Amino acid sequence: MHKPILIGPFRQLLTMANLPLKGAIRDDQLQLIEHAGIIVENQKIKAIGNYSLLTKDALQENFEIQEIIGDFVAMPGMVDAHTHICYAGSRAGDYAMRLSGMSYLEIAAQGGGIWSTVTKTREISEEGLFLNTLKRAEILLHSGTTTVEIKSGYALNVAGELRMLEIINRVNDQLPIDIVATCLAAHMKPKDFDGTHMDYLKVLTEKLLPVIRDRKLAQRIDIFIEKSAFSASESLAYLQKAKVLGFEITIHADQFTTGGSEIACQIGALSADHLEASTEKEINLLAKSNVIPVCLSGASLGLGMPFAPARQLLDAGASLAIASDWNPGSAPMGDLLAQAAIIGAYEHLSLAETLAAITFRAAAALNLHDRGVLSEGMLADVIAFSSSDYREILYRQGKLVPKYVWKKGKKIF
Ligand code: NIG
Ligand code: FE
Repeated sequence: MHKPILIGPFRQLLTMANLPLKGAIRDDQLQLIEHAGIIVENQKIKAIGNYSLLTKDALQENFEIQEIIGDFVAMPGMVDAHTHICYAGSRAGDYAMRLSGMSYLEIAAQGGGIWSTVTKTREISEEGLFLNTLKRAEILLHSGTTTVEIKSGYALNVAGELRMLEIINRVNDQLPIDIVATCLAAHMKPKDFDGTHMDYLKVLTEKLLPVIRDRKLAQRIDIFIEKSAFSASESLAYLQKAKVLGFEITIHADQFTTGGSEIACQIGALSADHLEASTEKEINLLAKSNVIPVCLSGASLGLGMPFAPARQLLDAGASLAIASDWNPGSAPMGDLLAQAAIIGAYEHLSLAETLAAITFRAAAALNLHDRGVLSEGMLADVIAFSSSDYREILYRQGKLVPKYVWKKGKKIF
């Protein structure tokens, strides 16, 4: 039991409380507390409110006081619900080829693409891959992301996928950031696998997923449903087996062609991610379901492709998360706040919708309901920007970065 701590005052505190999980949100629905304080006890928020009032309690009960000097806006730590930051090598060559006119799928067909990262990730030492992942997770934490999902999927064989998930778990043990591991062994059929797509998926369900479950390396699995990867029917069979094994499901859906989000709705996935190619049909299906659509604007920026229809999704009544998709191929930037601000500008999202998409709605995509909102009982994951107006966070399009980050009430910097 640690002594409670009072943190503040914050000029403005954006709680993100009492907002809907689905549908459009107006800025006037945001709850802003002026001159706010937060009392933290055992990693969670014990109380939140007017700083002067909380100070009286704090003095009476002899709490520690962490005083913040200057004008700051506080909000929940960001949640990045989709990344591939456990990898080796660079794909700057692919990027240059794309700029010179080749498509993502053409480059993949020619030996670039996911497979080239697989080759490099298989080759690198355990320590090298650990350090690569650790450094990227540290960058995210320093940018205000206090929870991040990290996928495997750049080894594509049983031993290599296990190694990736072990490394992701080691990084989680090493850093204060919370990491949610996802098995993406179904990223594509590896080129050195002798057999059909179904044969490969069978190896995964028989030899890989039971080990992951028994060793508690991940609770979630992902599959890339796409012409270059797995078809909808192949995926459905795989996902049904994974579900029986007790895994939660997320899907790389509708990135270039449709099909994935329909499967996500059918199987009851937690999220359907990408959605650049989704049409009205998919948008309406997602809106009727409990699947969280996750837009990956970093992949649109990396590939020079249109953004997912975020505005239409919200207007149809769907939820909306935004994630960075940080990976060496399609989304090399890895800056969630900048990417969220940019898709917000292009898709005409209210500030409230964009902020919800990187906080509690993103947490819901990871099935986490204890964060993304600053209210009593929630984790004390808090970030603070040097500003007196919360609107500047997105207005500065990623250039205003948090000055302070607290993870579970502990000041990280
Ligand atoms: O989310 N689309 C498939 N997977 C990744 C890209 C992976 C890669 O190109 O290395 C994505 O964009
Ligand atoms: Fe991805």
